Amino acid sequence: MCGIVGYIGKTNNARDFLLNGLEKLEYRGYDSAGIALSNKDGIHIFKEKGRIADLKKITNYSIESAVGIGQTRWATHGAPNKINAHPHQSISGQFTLVHNGVIENYELLYKEHLEGVTLKSDTDTEVVVHLIEKFKNDGYTTEKSFLKTLNLLKGSYAFALIDSKDSDKIYVAKNKSPLLIGLGDGTFNIFGSDALPMIHLTKSFLQLFDEEIVIVEKEHVTIKNLNGEAMQRNPIEIELDIEDIEKGTYPHYMLKEIDEQPFVIRKILKEYKGNENGFSIDKEIINSVIESDRIYIIACGTSYNAGLIGKQYLENWSSIPVEVHIASEFSYNTPVLSTKPLFIFISQSGETADSRSVLKYIKQQNYKALTITNVQSSTLSREADHTLLLHAGPEIAVASTKAYTAQITVLSILAATVAKKKNITLGFNLMHDLGVVSNVIESICEEKEIMKKISKEYFSTTRNAFFIGRHLDYYVVLEGALKLKEISYIQAEGFAGGELKHGTIALIENNTPVIALNTQEKTNLSIRSNVTEVVTRGAIPCIISMEGLDTPEDRFIIPKVNKHLAPLVSVVPLQLISYYAALERECDIDKPRNLAKSVTVE
Ligand code: F6R
Repeated sequence: MCGIVGYIGKTNNARDFLLNGLEKLEYRGYDSAGIALSNKDGIHIFKEKGRIADLKKITNYSIESAVGIGQTRWATHGAPNKINAHPHQSISGQFTLVHNGVIENYELLYKEHLEGVTLKSDTDTEVVVHLIEKFKNDGYTTEKSFLKTLNLLKGSYAFALIDSKDSDKIYVAKNKSPLLIGLGDGTFNIFGSDALPMIHLTKSFLQLFDEEIVIVEKEHVTIKNLNGEAMQRNPIEIELDIEDIEKGTYPHYMLKEIDEQPFVIRKILKEYKGNENGFSIDKEIINSVIESDRIYIIACGTSYNAGLIGKQYLENWSSIPVEVHIASEFSYNTPVLSTKPLFIFISQSGETADSRSVLKYIKQQNYKALTITNVQSSTLSREADHTLLLHAGPEIAVASTKAYTAQITVLSILAATVAKKKNITLGFNLMHDLGVVSNVIESICEEKEIMKKISKEYFSTTRNAFFIGRHLDYYVVLEGALKLKEISYIQAEGFAGGELKHGTIALIENNTPVIALNTQEKTNLSIRSNVTEVVTRGAIPCIISMEGLDTPEDRFIIPKVNKHLAPLVSVVPLQLISYYAALERECDIDKPRNLAKSVTVE
């Protein structure tokens, strides 16, 4: 949520780096944006409501600058408008600040330290920049003023601060919000909320931990803790293919990422391949799973939906009881924990604040944690005992697609590897069957014309839609409904087929679209009965069946795969029809309203 970037160098590349970098971070928030450019004439601020494209229109391109900071915003405090857009400045204009995060005690700090100061914006951030100036006016150095301010703050932040009277440095700080320093070639240094804005300039990065500040200069980077003590840190290499973060010929990242799913599954198979046609997962991880008497999966949104499928694999294949919890509810509805719990955090970004707060809590109790994430060295990965990577490549569209199938694939491999270690026979060859799944997804992705037709027919004007399924299909329809609602704004809900008659069926009226998923032999007849029940009440059904269970009335037939792995393929038509529904309704597919990719506020 929100993205920040910064550049300091010997040449006047700041503006281009900031604007292009913010575009790469736009998936993190996109309701307003701004940059501050520093040069001998002072600080030049450009900010605008809307997208980076809007900011680009109002930026003065004649201003040359070698130092700058920028932010793309997902509003928390204060409406998304030009005044609340970052950067924010102190009263004298000496300090300019951008922020990603939420300062929880900003009102209290204002009352205690800034009585009489007129605030221009409704943001929590503005208080921080005034506090820095207040301490500076009290006689502290800029660094001390920044540190003193940070020590007063409660909440999350990634800050970048410019002091116009000493703009050979940018002061950066991090707590709970992600931030990465990109090391240049000796003529510049850069930073950003993630690696995407930087990978065309460097592969060498410094990771930051919570409650650290960094003084970024053109030739040096100095990391300190909040007591001002210098910290040593070795750089890490991050290899990202530039093509992975470009749309190429695709109109939207979402479509590209849907199409990438077969390759992601093949990549996962390669990464986790062991000897003799089996899988290889770090022994310590397998032991942690085997030693646990119950697994608690913690996740949000799409990752939670993947967790529901993972539970089936871990329970049915490796015989370990599993509970799946929504991270944001865990602290209120904390279950009575078993004696040897293992927590599995599933998170594409590895930065989700709701999941992080559960991880923090369970680490205080000394419980073990495994994170399954797409982002190497993300916070959830660093703070857990173990990590399994998704190897899905950057997922840029806000709606998660390839991360979902990657999460299910990795969970299946984990469950199968544990089963093998426990001498439980699965009765099928997972490696082979996942290979078949990847081919089948590829073939479904070639059926875009059919998906387009279905979307047009069912979703071009409707206000709502229902998705039904039973058994594994129930969990997949939850994901299908989430996809449709988040990108097309159609009110869509997923239900267990058998549950409809206990209330929801009251909502069915003439022409209500009902998408029914039918991939499991066990539930074939019962889900078809549920379809009949809604059709009798005026619904227009769209049945998606697995080959072998199909009848002529079905709208789409999924080629046959191992029934346990059906969620990996059956979600693909749902992703595609959501995509085309949003396209038909002229929605902003990659950046749906009100959302952001990495949800770093609780
Ligand atoms: C929906 C979507 C979200 C995320 C959720 C968790 O398409 O992307 O529901 O799944 O915000 O994010 P991660 O997986 O990064 O923890």
